[in-house]
Amino acid sequence: MKLQLLSAGIILVISLYLIKTKSKTKNNVCKTFEDYYTDRDRNENCHYNPDGELTVPEIIKRWGYPVETHYVTTEDGYILTLFRIPYGKKSTLKQPGKPVLLQHGYKATSKCFISTGEKSLGFLLADHGYDVWLGNFRGSIYSRNHTQLSDTEKKFWDFSFHEIGLYDIAAKIDYVNKYRKQKIIYLGFSMGTTTATVYSSTYPDIAENKVKIFIYFAPFIFTNEIGSYTYKGLQIWPYIEPILRTLGKGQLFPRPFDDLNIQLWKFLCYPYPVQMKICQILDMWSFGFDYEQIDPETYPVTLLQLLETTSVKTVTHISQLLKSEEFQQFDYGEEGNLKKYRSEKPPQYDLSKLRVPIYLIRSDNDNLSTKSGIERFNASIPERVKPYDIYVVNYKKFNHIDFVFSKDVVPLLYNHLIQFMNNL
Ligand SMILES: *[C@@H]1O[C@H](CO)[C@@H](O)[C@H](O)[C@H]1NC(C)=O
Ligand SMILES: *[C@@H]1O[C@H](CO)[C@@H](O)[C@H](O)[C@H]1NC(C)=O
Ligand SMILES: *[C@@H]1O[C@H](CO)[C@@H](O)[C@H](O)[C@H]1NC(C)=O
Repeated sequence: MKLQLLSAGIILVISLYLIKTKSKTKNNVCKTFEDYYTDRDRNENCHYNPDGELTVPEIIKRWGYPVETHYVTTEDGYILTLFRIPYGKKSTLKQPGKPVLLQHGYKATSKCFISTGEKSLGFLLADHGYDVWLGNFRGSIYSRNHTQLSDTEKKFWDFSFHEIGLYDIAAKIDYVNKYRKQKIIYLGFSMGTTTATVYSSTYPDIAENKVKIFIYFAPFIFTNEIGSYTYKGLQIWPYIEPILRTLGKGQLFPRPFDDLNIQLWKFLCYPYPVQMKICQILDMWSFGFDYEQIDPETYPVTLLQLLETTSVKTVTHISQLLKSEEFQQFDYGEEGNLKKYRSEKPPQYDLSKLRVPIYLIRSDNDNLSTKSGIERFNASIPERVKPYDIYVVNYKKFNHIDFVFSKDVVPLLYNHLIQFMNNL
C-alpha cells in the first residue's frame, strides 16, 4: 500500500491548513501552476476538464473521436473490454489503417492513453491513420466479468502478470488479428511489456503469426539495480501480503474501500499544486523524480489514475522478480513448485524462443525500468528479434510515468515513435 497511511497523515495536516472555502471552485485545471492559486473560476487560463470523472468511451467521444467497445473472453473465462478508436478526427477516408494494440501497465487502465487531451497517444495515433485498440487487464474496472466466477470470489483474484500474459494478452492479440485479418503492432508500457514477454516466450509461433512488432515503453523484465526505495518498500510485502489476501480475497484496493480511498485522495491532493506535488512524492520515489515534466493542464486528471484494482498475487510476483532479479514464473515455495513445475525453483521464461522483433525504448531517469535491466534483456534475446538498437529518450530527467503523462511527451517521444511506426 506504499505507505499510504503515513503520507496521507502528512498531507492531511498540510491540506487542513490550506483548504479554505475558496478551494471549492468549479475550474479544476489551469495553464500554469501559478494560475491555480488565483481565483480559478475567473481566471481565463483555467477551465473545467471532466476527463478525470469520465469513462474511457466518454472521454474519446468528448474529444470528437469515434469509439467502439469490444468484448473478448479469455481461455480461462475472464471477459475483457477492448476499446477501439478506428480512425482519427482529421481522417477524411473514415477507414481504419494499420491496427495497433496499446497495453497499459500496473494499477492502471487504458485511460492512461487518452487522458491528456490532444497529447494522448491514443488520439495521436488515430490521427496519424492507425486503428487504435486499447486493452484493459483483468481485474481492472473495465475487465471485471467472468463466465463463471464473480469478482467477490477468491478464485477470481488468483492471478499474477503470468496469467495476464498467458491468457489476456493472447486473447486480445488473437481478437484484433482476426478482426483485422492482418498482423498487428503491439505497444506496451511497463507491465504491458512484462505480460507481452510472458506471452511471446510461451507462444512464439502464435506470436510470430499475429504480431508484426512489439514496441516496449519502459520495459519491466529484468529488475537489476531498481531504485532502492522500490526494493526496500517491497521487503515488507511478505508481512502485509497474508493480511491483504485474507481481507480482500486476493484483490488489492478492494472496490468499496477504493471509492472511499479515491475520495480521500481527492480531498487531500487536489486543492493546490503544493498538495498535488506532495501526493506524488511516493510515486516519484519509485518512478524517478521529474517535477519539470508534470503538466499543469492535465495533472488533476492524471494524478489519481494509478489506483486501479489488481491482485495481491501480481504484486507478490513483482516482488519476487525484484528479489531474484530473474524473469521467472511465480514462486510457490519448494513444495508448491515441485507440485506445479516439478522442480524446486520456478522455471524462467525462455527468452531464446522469441521470434517477433522488439523495439526497446527507455529513459535515463526511470527507476523502475533500469538501463542495466534493459541492456541485460537486450543481451538475452536472439539477434533475429533486435533489428533496432535500444532507443533512449533524449531528456535526462524523463521518468517512468513520463512515457504517458509528461508535458513534452510529443516532441520528446511520440514524434519519433510515429516516424518509426510509419516506416514499418
Ligand atoms: C459485466 O456484465 C454486466 C452484466 O451483464 C454488465 O452490466 C457490465 O457492464 C459488465 N461489465 C464489464 C466491465 O464489462
Ligand atoms: C534511482 O536509481 C538510481 C540509480 O539507478 C539510484 O542512484 C537512486 O538512488 C534511485 N533513486 C531512488 C529514489 O531510489
Ligand atoms: C543490443 O543488442 C544489439 C545486438 O546484439 C547490440 O548491437 C547493441 O549494442 C545492444 N545494445 C545495447 C545498448 O547494449
